[in-house]
Amino acid sequence: MTWTEWLATTTIAVAVRDSLLLTGGLSAIHLLGMTLITGGALVSNLRLLGALLASDDLITVTRSAARGIAVGLLISVPSGVLLFSARATEASVNPTFRIKMLLLASAAVFQFAVHSRVCRHGYGRVAERVTGAVALTLWVGVAAAGAYYILLGE
Ligand code: HEM
Repeated sequence: MTWTEWLATTTIAVAVRDSLLLTGGLSAIHLLGMTLITGGALVSNLRLLGALLASDDLITVTRSAARGIAVGLLISVPSGVLLFSARATEASVNPTFRIKMLLLASAAVFQFAVHSRVCRHGYGRVAERVTGAVALTLWVGVAAAGAYYILLGE
């Protein structure tokens, strides 16, 4: 038995799979986390790109937005894992879902290893613009892959 087959047979996975209410509730919670993440990513990275709140202090804007992203992750990761458990065998081999997980890992590493450093230390306008563009692409990519997977199932 693979780990995804085992996960799909756990009590919690069966409960989520068998309950429309539980799946719908988790999906709503998952989307709340997604909204916080993409909202925070939009504000923070459009500020880095100079397209939003350009006259406001960079650290003040990006620090608040980073908190939104962190809270969003605390909401969307556990709810996502529960939703995943109910369809673990199909999702784990789905190319779009795999791309989403790859983008999520890249976005989280980039956010905490590069983005936060550039915002704190300010390595110049070019570094800010490149960081903003990369981070925005990664976070929007995660949300787009999530929506694509659930809407088209591909
Ligand atoms: C470890 C983290 C995550 C896992 C395991 C995960 C898993 C899933 C699963 C299994 C679904 C299908 C839901 C269903 O069956 O109804 C889904 C949907 C979705 N996910 Fe995630 N997800 C994670 C993180 C995220 C993050 C960080 C975002 C956004 C930035 C996101 C955005 C979405 C969107 C937009 C959908 C479609 C709407 C929905 O049904 O809720 N996910 N996710």
